[in-house]
Amino acid sequence: MQLAERINRISVSPTMAVMAEAERYKARGIDVVDFGPGEPDFPTPDHIKRAAIRAIEENRTKYTPAAGIMPLREAVCAWHAAQFGSRYAANECIVTVGGKHAIFNAVSALISRGDEVLIPVPYWVSFPDIVKYAGGEPVFVPTEPGDGFCLRAEALERAVTSRTRLVIVNSPNNPTGAVVPADEFARILQVCERHNLWLLSDECYSHFVYGDARPFSIGSLAEAKPRLIVVGSLSKTFSMTGWRIGYALAPAPLVEGMVKLQSQSTSNPTSIAQYAALEALCGPMDSVGAMLAEYLRRRERILDGLRAIHGFTCTTPQGAFYVFPNVAAHVGDGRAADTTALARELLERAHIAVVPGEAFGAAGYLRISYATSIERIEEGLRRLARFFSSSASAAP
Ligand SMILES: Cc1ncc(COP(=O)(O)O)c(C=O)c1O
Repeated sequence: MQLAERINRISVSPTMAVMAEAERYKARGIDVVDFGPGEPDFPTPDHIKRAAIRAIEENRTKYTPAAGIMPLREAVCAWHAAQFGSRYAANECIVTVGGKHAIFNAVSALISRGDEVLIPVPYWVSFPDIVKYAGGEPVFVPTEPGDGFCLRAEALERAVTSRTRLVIVNSPNNPTGAVVPADEFARILQVCERHNLWLLSDECYSHFVYGDARPFSIGSLAEAKPRLIVVGSLSKTFSMTGWRIGYALAPAPLVEGMVKLQSQSTSNPTSIAQYAALEALCGPMDSVGAMLAEYLRRRERILDGLRAIHGFTCTTPQGAFYVFPNVAAHVGDGRAADTTALARELLERAHIAVVPGEAFGAAGYLRISYATSIERIEEGLRRLARFFSSSASAAP
């Protein structure tokens, strides 16, 4: 079938493809240890669920303004100000169908054919395809495993050309867990100022940071505002992936462009989910601290377990809920050709679901999500250790 050229520029999200394949195994009754998910395994907190039920009972089930209900736009601005020290007004805020939709709308509103967009590698799978769909060209900026995969302003500066229009920064990072320190972020902003670039800061994992790091937004710097698009999401912070609520904070004319696009495509995000989001942002945040403490425990366990496996090297993620071990010692030379083939073997032979590094532009790595219980992590580590000890002895 002949589809439009623009649809042939993109592929199905590889993380969604892994999820679908793991589901097929589970449907056959196979006990899969699922290290694939990019979502918290905790339930949405009760007070948020109750707010949604109330919204249904009160018949708040009709269209809302395309940009979201005004109390929610105001609540996003107030929450962001309280958490990070930013100053945004409701006309600089749009509520979207998840953070992904905010990125899609912002890139669609800003990028014209031939514009270059700088994307640090390893990258979240959707960034390059969203840029390509808009007609732009992703330009990949390297980060170093020895530097914890932290994006550096100098690396960014080297990639700037006369066609560069936008820089996308995702900190804490999916898949590496890298966190850009505040002073480095300020230098990244200076690069954007020097070359008159837009900066899109994807803060979807903002509240999952470990050690000394604290949730940070470059939106806290007033001078960033004229060129900054903050993208946030309730998906991870409040364990609300299925509710599909995200937002963008940006200069009002850009927000107007995004609202126009939204009004001609999805219209408003689900009204019921908006009322739930309002409660999430205005209510208690104890659940966030509880999740963070549990992720920290799991991170320690999984790092210990992975580092004990022959041929695995692993940087310590500073945020999010993924580890990104280098397993290059286990590919090539008569074994799996690459980590895509290795991930397939892991699912077939050990019933473990992981996402191959190629999906993130990083050959030789696997992304392992620890958004699963300690018991499943223990079981997964046992299976991985067994798989790699037998594949090591089978290696030439
Ligand atoms: C880096 C990053 N940005 C954005 C998103 C989008 O999340 P959502 O659309 O559920 O808000 C995700 C989801 O996995 C992500 O990992």
